[in-house]
Amino acid sequence: MIIVGGSSSRDLAKELAQRLGCQYVQAATTRFPDGECYTRIEDGELDDDVIIVQNTYPDENIVEMFLLQDAVDRLGAKSITLVIPYYGYSRQDRIFKPGEPESAKVMAKHLELLCDRVLTVDIHKEDVLRWFACPAIDVKAARAIADYFRDREIDLVLAPDLGAAARAEEVAGYLGVPHDHLEKTRLSGTDVRIAPSTVDCEGKNVLIVDDIIATGGTILAATEQLKLMGAKGVNVACTHGVFSKGALERLTGSNIDAILTCNTLENEVSNISVANVVADALKSGW
Ligand code: R5P
Repeated sequence: MIIVGGSSSRDLAKELAQRLGCQYVQAATTRFPDGECYTRIEDGELDDDVIIVQNTYPDENIVEMFLLQDAVDRLGAKSITLVIPYYGYSRQDRIFKPGEPESAKVMAKHLELLCDRVLTVDIHKEDVLRWFACPAIDVKAARAIADYFRDREIDLVLAPDLGAAARAEEVAGYLGVPHDHLEKTRLSGTDVRIAPSTVDCEGKNVLIVDDIIATGGTILAATEQLKLMGAKGVNVACTHGVFSKGALERLTGSNIDAILTCNTLENEVSNISVANVVADALKSGW
């Protein structure tokens, strides 16, 4: 097995190769003066099963993924597995208004042209994977998040909304603590309202878990509400730290005690590695 690291995910790809005890090959990707992507795998033949680790976010990484798929195929890969730590466009998983594209499906239909298997991590809607003609699975970061917080005296794990409740339950299960969820209403792209809740947070060290932090609106509103409800500490962990529009600065400047993300998107707080859960899924030979 050979792991090829695309430019979005080199650290994770290297760690995966170490854990799986297989060869790591780094794609040499640069940009032409006009911004177009150039990539080359300089290690000669790839006469083995090849795993490409690369995000499909932001847009420039989608093109790099397509080019890597072609390069790997031309170098003789026996099979191609795509490990997509953060699957971009998964949130437009259906038509919300007439005239829209079904973006998550469009992505799948293009990616499947040159691959044999696909693995995503905490994809926003797992249902999207049905669009792949090849086997496609989603692995959960919950165990990695729980391992990080195991010795940090968490009393309660909370999801900011019902949609994230299963994730909170899974993390809480690994930690052996209770879980619950809050009630979120989205008011606009950036503003959300978290309703006051009967969840008992008084004096507790709470961990909020979510799949994505984008603008940070959800986490800021949840933290504010939890502090009003008497929480002693508010820790935040999400899988994908998208952090649009200066969100990370706003969050680190707020009264959150700790904010961590997984390394599906690499940033200054992505200290939770999903390499273990991804390696275990790859080893299981699904
Ligand atoms: C929503 O369904 C997601 O699980 C996240 O809660 C959401 O994407 C977070 O977005 P933001 O950080 O912009 O509130």
